[in-house]
Amino acid sequence: MAGFDDPAFYGDRWADAYDEHHAEMDPAAAVDFLAGLAGDGPVLELAIGTGRVALPLAGRGIAVEGIDASALMVDQLRAKPGGQAIPVVIGDMAQVPARGPFRLVYLVFNTLFGLLDQARQAECFRNVARVLDPGGVFVIECFVPELTRFDRGQRVHTRAVTEDAAVIELSSHDAAEQRITTQVITLGHQGIHLRPVALRYAWPGELDLMAQQAGLRLRERYSGWDRRPFDSSSGGHVSVYQRD
Ligand SMILES: C[S@@+](CC[C@H](N)C(=O)[O-])C[C@H]1O[C@@H](n2cnc3c(N)ncnc32)[C@H](O)[C@@H]1O
Repeated sequence: MAGFDDPAFYGDRWADAYDEHHAEMDPAAAVDFLAGLAGDGPVLELAIGTGRVALPLAGRGIAVEGIDASALMVDQLRAKPGGQAIPVVIGDMAQVPARGPFRLVYLVFNTLFGLLDQARQAECFRNVARVLDPGGVFVIECFVPELTRFDRGQRVHTRAVTEDAAVIELSSHDAAEQRITTQVITLGHQGIHLRPVALRYAWPGELDLMAQQAGLRLRERYSGWDRRPFDSSSGGHVSVYQRD
């Protein structure tokens, strides 16, 4: 497998810059939310990355395990305080290569959409259900597709402009494939850096059906980690699926 079809592709291309690009994202509300569902654990983070959420959750005394396809992302986690103590399997999250059973499995920051077709996303739900305790929950955080962002299938967005650099995003949208392909481009004294992202988006109803087919029931849905109600104006959702 090569390019976007390789599960390690995203992480390997982002690992050296991931934390810097996402420094403004505060995981505190997500950690509070997840800690409240973790019970006695153990819990599993799919696509654990550099430990942005897993490290503060483990800091609460919760036994956290992880899966990630990119050894380079996990190297960044390992270099942080507490990062050596979290068991991580290098593998494909759609297959959920872990034994469990887990009280809680979670997949945040739209990363379910990193599985680039419906079959892979449905496979992920099925394999999560396999490793959940009865009564255990699967929590996902996803955006709600907002297609008016695109003009004739494309979008240009300025992320940051400073004295020394500019960060822009160039995206293309394929409505038939429900796919958005983006390059986050940094232009600066050190040259041009391309950080690629490909996502296969899905509306909440499609995700609920995948969950249902995997034996998981939608228990709660909020517009964010602060538990505000989800409605037609919500740009994203935090959904809790339970294995009964
Ligand atoms: C946007 S980052 C999220 C990292 C972390 N969960 C966070 O919230 O900061 C996406 C992560 O998903 C991982 N990833 C992408 N596709 C994957 C797959 N098929 N299996 C396992 N990990 C995958 C990448 O390596 C990367 O670490």
